[in-house]
Amino acid sequence: MKLLYEKADQRILRSMRVFAVFVILTFFVSAGSAFAQTPETLQKIVQEAYEKFKDVKEGKTADYIPELAKVPPDLFGVVIVTAKGEAYTAGDVDYAFSIQSVSKPFTAALVMQEQGAQAILDKIGVEPTGLKFNSILATQIIPQVSVNPLVNSGAIASVSMVKAASAEERFNKILSFFNDLSGAKLSVLEDVYKSEAATNQRNRAHGYILAASDRIYSDPMEAVDVYTRQCSIGVTAKQLGMMGATLANGGVNPLTGKSVIDSKYVPKILAIMMMAGFYNESGQWAYTAGLPAKTGVGGGIVAVVPGRMAIVGFSPRVNDAGNSVRSVKAIEYISTQLDLNLFGSGK
Ligand code: DON
Repeated sequence: MKLLYEKADQRILRSMRVFAVFVILTFFVSAGSAFAQTPETLQKIVQEAYEKFKDVKEGKTADYIPELAKVPPDLFGVVIVTAKGEAYTAGDVDYAFSIQSVSKPFTAALVMQEQGAQAILDKIGVEPTGLKFNSILATQIIPQVSVNPLVNSGAIASVSMVKAASAEERFNKILSFFNDLSGAKLSVLEDVYKSEAATNQRNRAHGYILAASDRIYSDPMEAVDVYTRQCSIGVTAKQLGMMGATLANGGVNPLTGKSVIDSKYVPKILAIMMMAGFYNESGQWAYTAGLPAKTGVGGGIVAVVPGRMAIVGFSPRVNDAGNSVRSVKAIEYISTQLDLNLFGSGK
């Protein structure tokens, strides 16, 4: 009788073990598929995002910088670059457009490299404004004045913090940092630079407000000029994808293997992007896409999925907040379809 019970126990134990192995394997297979999409899936989703939104005509090319109004408005490109450096593309991904405000988090990263993360907190600030990217009001109601490195005033302050003996040296340092991030040789789109330099009175006002509050760290007009050059650097969607992939890869450029940003600064950069990357639409972006990202009035947006990939959209028609309409839609679509929302899938 006892023997019979023991045999039955062993059978139950064996089937429980088989069941446990099955459960564990199922867990790893499904977790694996969520964390490592196949190349086919990534290419398919990029193509889908492109096709789905290519006919959207909402928004218009920015015209407060006259040269930007001349960019062909129908251009549209979508890119995923993985943290390993593999690129998946659709549309106009080799057209060089001006990086504009997408440059801002990268210059903040350079400042962190030189002076540490605390310097950004102490000398600029990290608070989101809920206001437009060039809001003078924000500089008057937020005690830090410079506000955060992703609005114009804070970005001009960032530029002024890059250690250099001259404006020329400061700009060259920024350009060479961007070259390292993209693994490419970038250059200024001179027509965009001239056009913005001739019309950037508002940014000059920001420079003087910062100076009046001791919140700028080089000559203010020099900082505004270097900032304007930085915004005029030309990038393709693919190159911007690689810059984002360097953030996704803990600061190491996956193409060149060069460590560009110390990994301890990457979460700080992404935190600022999450809170302020879309200015007065940052809350909505967190709600819909759930990813740290940065927009530019040239039509580029880069979003970062830490450890996994960067997603880039490029489309010159922007909305009132200065954010590219089709790029927003394409990245939101990819984030949802691939379950990339950092706050969870909600499933
Ligand atoms: O300073 C400016 O106004 C431009 N160079 C950059 C603004 C910008 O890209 C706003 N972002 N969407």
